[in-house]
Amino acid sequence: MKDQISVLIPEEKVCERIREIAAQIDRDFAGEQVHLIGILKGSVFFICELAKRLTVPVTIDFMQVSSYGDGTKSSGVVRISKDTDEGLVGKNTIVVEDIIDSGRTLSYLLKLLKERKPKSLKLCTLLDKPSRRVVDVDVDYVGFQIPDEFVVGFGLDYAQKYRNLPYIGVVKPGGEE
Ligand code: IMP
Ligand code: MG
Repeated sequence: MKDQISVLIPEEKVCERIREIAAQIDRDFAGEQVHLIGILKGSVFFICELAKRLTVPVTIDFMQVSSYGDGTKSSGVVRISKDTDEGLVGKNTIVVEDIIDSGRTLSYLLKLLKERKPKSLKLCTLLDKPSRRVVDVDVDYVGFQIPDEFVVGFGLDYAQKYRNLPYIGVVKPGGEE
């Protein structure tokens, strides 16, 4: 059986919300510069859309961490496989994430980045599953709060597939062919 994907948030709604978040960041950092750190790979589609809509000066860096295996369950282990290229000292840093689930990844990461003395440190996520939170994290910018469903598209994957879908969909995994 094939995986079944149903649309949860259509492309237009996702893009409209990203424009709103960009406008909010523009207001919050008027006259300043922002440094975006995208968390690979899930945030790439989001960070591109967001960065294109910002009018304040922007620099971009990436980091890769993993707390998940290939399936839909958290392993609880956070590992940095790619660190940022640049330091954060004196920068208005915004961590850009695809989704916050248990909160383990981001709580670990924010602690780590804070020690690098950014001017400010904010967290921006496209999606949030508040009902799944295990560790508390302060989120500054949220695209959408969603129910406890496994979602794909707009950068999010299921076993590395479906990142390229232009909308957010709920996936119901099919069995072996
Ligand atoms: P957390 O540490 O549990 O908050 O894990 C967050 C990470 O888990 C995200 O950056 C995603 O990579 C992954 N993740 C959590 N929920 C989903 C989902 O519904 N679809 C795809 N990836 C997810
Ligand atoms: Mg991720």
